[in-house]
Amino acid sequence: MNFEYTEEHLAVRDAAREFAQSELLPGVIERDTEAKFPADQIKKMGELGFMGMMVNPKYNGGGMDTISYVLAMEELSKIDASASVAMSVNNSLVCWGLEKYGSEAQKEKYLKPLASGEVLGAFCLSEPEAGSDATSQKTEARREGDFYILNGTKNWITNGNTASVYLVIAQTDVAKGHKGISAFIVEKGWEGFVVGKKEDKLGIRGSDTHSLMFTDVKVPVENRIGEEGFGFNFAMETLNGGRIGIAAQALGIAAGAYELALAYAKERKAFGKPISQHQAIQFKLADMATSIEAARLLVLKSAWLKDQGKDYAHASAMAKLYASQVAMDVTVEAVQVHGGYGFVKEYHVERLMRDAKITQIYEGTSEIQRIVISRGLLR
Ligand code: CAA
Ligand code: FAD
Repeated sequence: MNFEYTEEHLAVRDAAREFAQSELLPGVIERDTEAKFPADQIKKMGELGFMGMMVNPKYNGGGMDTISYVLAMEELSKIDASASVAMSVNNSLVCWGLEKYGSEAQKEKYLKPLASGEVLGAFCLSEPEAGSDATSQKTEARREGDFYILNGTKNWITNGNTASVYLVIAQTDVAKGHKGISAFIVEKGWEGFVVGKKEDKLGIRGSDTHSLMFTDVKVPVENRIGEEGFGFNFAMETLNGGRIGIAAQALGIAAGAYELALAYAKERKAFGKPISQHQAIQFKLADMATSIEAARLLVLKSAWLKDQGKDYAHASAMAKLYASQVAMDVTVEAVQVHGGYGFVKEYHVERLMRDAKITQIYEGTSEIQRIVISRGLLR
């Protein structure tokens, strides 16, 4: 058992912390208010190697471990969860799936520009009437010679408009249930592929969330990932790692709100002394710090299991379930510590509170994480 970070881990964490302060913090309130995608910031994140952190350097990635990735995710999410979700999707849902299961030609063509941050990727599983119940999706890919003809609608897609490469999960044989679902790489701009309107959201307002419509889109057979019928397992395997990223995002949102609350409590005076001298506030800070540390241990454990090549599905579901609850609890308390100032945008904690909520919904709701965890326990 070793709780020490390596020099490399600390360097990655410090680089992410510095980038978050210098590049993400300026303008974060305006981007949230105007629901503006952090395009320039994401470009710089690509240049710094944050968009393909775990990908093998031969495909333009950083060749880093998952611990480095979660440390970076935590630091960036303390300031801007809209930027960090774009990074999480690109790293763990798109690059990971392509590197693990893509063909050599797919890696050359698609993974390399994705890992270098030259282009962004999106992961398209959810539909208007199939979110948690992902096997009941309706999007269909019908084989016709050397192509599949793709028809259907995907909903809530992160990086929906800004992406260039989309991993789309679709039915190839409805009769086979989840064994009749396949995964495809689809490019922006292909005929019949239309991006719907941007969603106007409670939180992560800068994130680019869109529905996508596919009408008779011709997808070459060589763009299928793995065998026909492998798409649902592909999505589930990919989401196991994705949930580590979102757990780290939730951890960062909580830690960011806690750091602001701690600093504010030392400064703000009431009844002749800093509010940090009132035990009610001290106990809030103690509870926040304790739950954040517990969440961090779950996040790091799931990342460590993945790095060790051990099963991490159960651990990543636990990390996401717990860290997302901590994000909600801590951000609500951080607003409380700030009093009225917590309720206005200038102090950042109200945004973090709004951003926290999504971590209990996407990449599997908290109820779905409980299903994954309990199935593991009862197996
Ligand atoms: N890891 C690996 N395989 C898994 C798995 C996991 N966590 N969960 C299920 N599977 C496999 C099962 O082993 C089974 O495969 P085999 O038949 O080959 O053994 C197959 O998937 C079907 O499993 P179930 O019979 O358990 O399927 P189900 O219909 O009961 O549903 C579910 C399972 C866990 C509820 C699943 O549908 C699920 O995870 N739903 C949530 C969907 C989700 O997380 N969507 C996120 C979209 S992406 C996103 O949100 C991105 C973003 O916001 C940024
Ligand atoms: P539903 O599945 O309809 O669930 C409604 C409620 O019922 C929830 O509380 C749920 O937990 C509960 N519920 C459902 N089934 C059960 C059950 N069996 N037992 C107990 N409770 C249950 N998807 C993508 O594919 N790619 C993306 O990039 C992406 N990005 C997103 C970004 C945002 C901002 C949002 C809001 C969503 C995103 N999603 C994405 C979709 C997201 O994964 C789904 O919203 C989520 O999986 C829940 O699906 P749903 O919204 O259809 O809710």
